[in-house]
This record gives sequence, structure tokens and C-alpha cells, in this order.
Amino acid sequence: MKFGSLIVLVGLLAAPVASGQAGQQQRPQMAEEVFTNLQILRGIPVDEFMDTMGFFSASTGMNCTECHTKDADTSWAHYAADGPIKNTARRMMRMVTAINRDHFGGRRGITCFTCHSGGQRPKVDPSLAVQYSVPLDDPNEFVPTGQEPAAPILDKYIQAIGGAARLAAVTSFTAKGTYMGYDTYQQKVPLDIYAQAPGRVATVAHEVGPSKADTMRVYDGRTAWFASRDKPVPVMPLTGGNLEGAKLDAILFFPAQIKQAFTQWRTGLASIDDRDVQVVQGTNAGQPPVKLYFDEESGLLVRVVRYADSIVGRVPTQIDYSDYRDVAGVKVPFKRIVTWTDNRTFIDLTEVRANVPIDAARFARPGQ
Ligand code: HEC
Ligand code: HEC
Repeated sequence: MKFGSLIVLVGLLAAPVASGQAGQQQRPQMAEEVFTNLQILRGIPVDEFMDTMGFFSASTGMNCTECHTKDADTSWAHYAADGPIKNTARRMMRMVTAINRDHFGGRRGITCFTCHSGGQRPKVDPSLAVQYSVPLDDPNEFVPTGQEPAAPILDKYIQAIGGAARLAAVTSFTAKGTYMGYDTYQQKVPLDIYAQAPGRVATVAHEVGPSKADTMRVYDGRTAWFASRDKPVPVMPLTGGNLEGAKLDAILFFPAQIKQAFTQWRTGLASIDDRDVQVVQGTNAGQPPVKLYFDEESGLLVRVVRYADSIVGRVPTQIDYSDYRDVAGVKVPFKRIVTWTDNRTFIDLTEVRANVPIDAARFARPGQ
């Protein structure tokens, strides 16, 4: 994939900009405090800003350097340079805001994706090939509207992975395995996961990127961070949908709590790779919905699709779970594939242990 291959380059970037990193609970840095040439995308946290860039790439099919300058990938500072395409993108942002304001009552009627559909130049003529082909049935686009209660599907899942009693007996997991993505140039690197009930998780991938440093994703039950030496902010707090996503990932290690995770539920039937799945959509007030896909036969969770809302549109993340194996009487997915606009990563666990004591420092803000 063209986009993906260029994302690798993000990992090659030189020393990051670090400023004002003191204090555990400080507010996240705003984009304009980190970047130097922003006219429009101001007043949003850095993680949301990076999501807007992923959204642009996903919408236009252009990778980071195609919209910026050819050498942008050699230093974060180079992204500040302006060029004709980048300026067109700014004009497009203003246009989208105006169209939504003037024609859709200020709601998000259109985004970049509406016109571009993943291409650099939107198409003008109808395509007969598209008209006469079978439309791609994307299970991620399926919107459950069913009123069937979610509880039996969730109960079946709890049962399928071992039942409430066995789940309650497991209060921690430690796992070893491998991690692979564009940021590791598709090479497997060692990975450790630490999870403590009810909802703390730390994932550490070792020897990532040119700096061969660890990257860390930590959720301490309240706050989440992504830490990487190759990012513009070495310890980036996660906000909005990214924070909610970290919370959900933690819940899914100890899924007895899943029914309490959302206040509204919808259900439906779809299929993934020709297998029937029951789709359960959970929503919390003010958040985009989250879809959970359960294999109809086994009852096991096979996919989660969630969204992080950004100022320019929603950024989807898809997590596929497979290779369930027994750990202390509880079934744990040993394989996870995480796909979003910036990367597709493969997590393969080789060893998972239950109820091993974990040092609380594992869940502290990285880099303390
Ligand atoms: C379709 C065009 C487009 C694509 C694709 C795109 N960007 Fe941008 N980027 C912009 C625009 C426009 C701005 C300036 C926004 C503003 O003025 O508010 C920007 C600003 C930035 C900045 C801030 C630079 C500074 O110091 O002011 C960074 C960093 C950045 N982009 C990184 C990326 C990365 C990494 C990718 C790939 C994931 C990417 N961009 C993909 C259009 C794009
Ligand atoms: C209403 C439809 C529409 C929407 C929405 C839209 N675009 Fe465009 N965009 C176009 C058209 C049409 C062109 C081609 C103009 C041309 O051929 O000169 C274009 C061109 C561009 C180009 C220049 C491509 C090139 O090769 O010169 C960029 C970059 C771009 N759009 C980015 C965006 C971004 C980012 C968004 C969302 C903020 C967006 N567009 C939203 C219609 C749209």
C-alpha cells in the first residue's frame, strides 16, 4: 500500500521537539505549542492533530510527503514548510467548513473523504465499472439498528471465554510476544504486555524504529499515553476517542465488565470473511459508537471497530482478534491485528501468564 510505505518514514524522523514535559497531570499540549506553522488546525491536542493528518492521508490517498515536501520525512521541522499542495489542502479545509456551515446547518455533512474517496483528485464522471460491479460489503460500515437485546450476545461471549467465575479469578495477565508494523519496517520485535484488573494496561514494544527504542502505550485506569522517541512529542497523552479506545482495550482484558462499558446498545447481523457475526454496538453520550463483532458460532470476539473524532472527521481503528488459547481457564486471543490510518500492526503472543504480580510502576506515565 502506497500510503503505508511512506508512513515508515515517520519513524525515521530526527530528534523530537520536547517542551514542558514536567508534571504528571498537566493538560495535553496543544498542536500550536508543538508545531510552528499552523493556520487552521489550532486549539486541538497533539494526538488529535496527528489524527487529522492520518485522516487527510486516508481521504486523499496521499502520503505525508506527497502533501508536504519530499524531504519532510527527514525531520519533523520540515513539515512546517509550505508548498502548493499543502496550501490547496488548507483551502479545502476552509471550503469544507463553509459547505457544512452554509448547507448542512453546521453539522458534519461532508468531509474530505466524501469527495476524494481515497483519491488525490475527485472523480467527475460516473463509472460504469462501479455501477455494474458488486459493491464491496464492508462489515465496518454496517450500522446495527436491531432492537434485539445485547445482553444474551455478551453473556454468550463471557461463557465462551470461560464463564464469569473463571474470569473473576484472573486479576492480572503478563504476556510476551512479537510486534510488527511500518514503524518496525515489518520486522518482528519483542513485545511485553502487562494488564491488571479492573483496567490498567501497559504495552511495550522493544527496538522500534531507527532509534531502536521502546515504544509504550500505557493506560493507568484514567489517563493514557503513547511514548516514542521518534514522535514529535515523546510522551503524548491520549485524548477523546483515543483515550476511550485505551480504556476499552483494558476492559477487553477483563471482559466481565463489558456490559457496564456502554449505556446504549444496538445489535445486528453481518459477516466477516464469509463467517456470520453478531454485531453489538455500544454508545456512550458524546462519544462515537463502538462496534463489537462476535463469531455467531463460537461466541468469541473477532473484531472491534472504534472511532476517534477529530476536528476534520472520524478516524477509524479496527482490531481483529484470533487464535484464542486457554490461560488459567480463560480464553485469550494470542493474535491481534490493529489497523488504523497511520499503521497496521501485528501482535502475536507467545506466552501469557495469569495472576503474576505486576509492579504498579509499569502503569505510571512513561519516562518518569
Ligand atoms: C492532503 C494534505 C496533507 C497530508 C496527506 C498530510 N498533511 Fe500534514 N499538514 C497539512 C496541512 C494543510 C498542514 C497545515 C495545517 C494548518 O495550517 O493548520 C499540515 C501540517 C502538518 C504538521 C505541522 C508542521 C508545523 O510545524 O507547522 C505536521 C507535523 C504534519 N502536517 C505531519 C504530517 C504527517 C506525519 C502526515 C502523514 C501521516 C501528514 N502530515 C499528511 C496537509 C497534509
Ligand atoms: C466538495 C468536494 C471536495 C471536498 C469535500 C474536498 N475536496 Fe479536495 N479537491 C476537490 C477537487 C474537485 C479537487 C481537484 C481540483 C483540481 O483538479 O484542480 C481537489 C483537490 C485537492 C488537492 C490537490 C490535489 C492535487 O493534485 O493538486 C488536495 C491536496 C485536496 N484536494 C485535499 C483535500 C482535503 C485535505 C480535504 C478535506 C479538508 C478536501 N480536499 C476536501 C474536491 C473536494
